[in-house]
Amino acid sequence: MAKAKVDQNLCIGCSSCEAMCPQVFQMGDDGKSHVIADDCKDCDCQKVAEICPVNAISVENLEKII
Ligand code: F3S
Repeated sequence: MAKAKVDQNLCIGCSSCEAMCPQVFQMGDDGKSHVIADDCKDCDCQKVAEICPVNAISVENLEKII
């Protein structure tokens, strides 16, 4: 299980993450992406993180912490 995080200071609102994984990322009224789900087992959030043009997304692997 992984948990994605969006750095609001870096996000420029390109919305690629929402297009790729709407279960986890949702664009807010502030024009930035927000994480709306705790885990991304239905998609590959690591891939989403890689397509973000400003590297605003980080993915934490919870298995490593437990
Ligand atoms: Fe923002 Fe990157 Fe998504 S710029 S909208 S976090 S792809």
